[in-house]
Amino acid sequence: MDKPICEFLEKYNNKNPIRLHVPGHKGKSFLGYERYDLTEIDGADELYMPTGIIRKSQENASKVFGFPTFYSVEGSSHAIRSMLYLTKIYAKITGKKYKVLSTRNVHKSFLSACALLNAEVEWLYSDNVLSYFSNYLTAKSLEEYLKSSGEMPCALYVTSPDYLGNLLDIEGIAKVAKKYGVLLLVDNAHGAYLNFLGMHPITLGATMCADSAHKTLPVLTGGAYLHLSNEVYNKLSSYVESALSLFGTTSPSYLILSSLDNANDYLENEYKSKLNAFIYKINGLKSVLNSRGYTLVGNEPLKLTINAKNYGFTGQEIANILKENGIYVEFYDIDYVVLMFTIEILDSELEKVKKVLLNIKQRTKLQGTKLAPFKPERALTLQDTLSSLTEIISVENAVGRVYADFNLPCPPAVPIIMPGEVISQNTQQVFKYYNINEIKVIK
Ligand SMILES: Cc1ncc(COP(=O)(O)O)c(C=O)c1O
Repeated sequence: MDKPICEFLEKYNNKNPIRLHVPGHKGKSFLGYERYDLTEIDGADELYMPTGIIRKSQENASKVFGFPTFYSVEGSSHAIRSMLYLTKIYAKITGKKYKVLSTRNVHKSFLSACALLNAEVEWLYSDNVLSYFSNYLTAKSLEEYLKSSGEMPCALYVTSPDYLGNLLDIEGIAKVAKKYGVLLLVDNAHGAYLNFLGMHPITLGATMCADSAHKTLPVLTGGAYLHLSNEVYNKLSSYVESALSLFGTTSPSYLILSSLDNANDYLENEYKSKLNAFIYKINGLKSVLNSRGYTLVGNEPLKLTINAKNYGFTGQEIANILKENGIYVEFYDIDYVVLMFTIEILDSELEKVKKVLLNIKQRTKLQGTKLAPFKPERALTLQDTLSSLTEIISVENAVGRVYADFNLPCPPAVPIIMPGEVISQNTQQVFKYYNINEIKVIK
């Protein structure tokens, strides 16, 4: 598979050009990779109106994935906002109300998109969740919900995989969504690699999907994809580039674009067999850990999520032990530690992770606090909340106040309570549980 963006950069540099264009470093070496750092100069095409090398590269990516694929250099956050704009257009075309049904474990980019675009959001709750950033929506519960629903939403939005590595039954959910004429939008930020296991949300029936290529594939930070099913692409093709342009920079990084471009050939040719071999090894590691007393959660192949309390530790304690041994995890909180693997991890590194984890002596199980499920009352729409004045207060004084923060710490950047909702005593307990002492509320 050719690499049109990489080839352009190489040819350009070989001319030893005097760069009288942006960026300001002019290709001179400060960090060492400035030579490849260009933006949309003559001949380099334009990301949101591509006719040349970017178009060709996106066509390569579409071939690799098997459905229409567009680049983002600003992460899945950008693709998620674009997806919600496209949904708004779809609602206009089909005469439907711009109402989105969503599970509550959403990344903050979904909230800002809905606020900016004034989407009406209806929240789906599920029982027995492992954490506020998980949700176990099933095809059956969706069917029950939609059957008794008065006004149909135009789209359903779900996060799969979630931060703990839980995959939803996208195939079953997609069938139900289709039956009721509801688009299925998937935050697949953690699951770009699932495509190479035949488990990509679009393959399983989703309509639109955002993947952070940079999270699980060998792509530089920021590189992401917006994917559309062929069916919805036929309806919305003339809006896709404007949707991306609406939220994107006019100075896209060619370091990131070339990294996305470079990945296509690797993904097309070597990746699948390497991935299968690697999953075999990870499954081996998971079995050993299970047999030595660890409780692992989630069903995502490349994530290893430890329920730390069941092993007698907090998530932070296990993460610290790993860090003392030079192993840096993706995420931890009081309950869990999340380790994200990809096929680039060496056997020796895998061995070290195993050795360090097995050297941690199991202790008496710590009691997890059972957080009461709560359904907050809404005071303001997301859009009204976004345009309101706010102040920061102590969680101690928060009961009865309206939560107003869109800028949530990442990871996981998932809200405990949505902006515009009223903080109850239950919510206050959850904030305290996660050691959150100050929050932003409506003034
Ligand atoms: C579930 C989920 N969705 C979306 C995003 C946003 O992805 P990006 O950082 O690529 O913008 C993240 C990032 O952490 C995430 O965890």
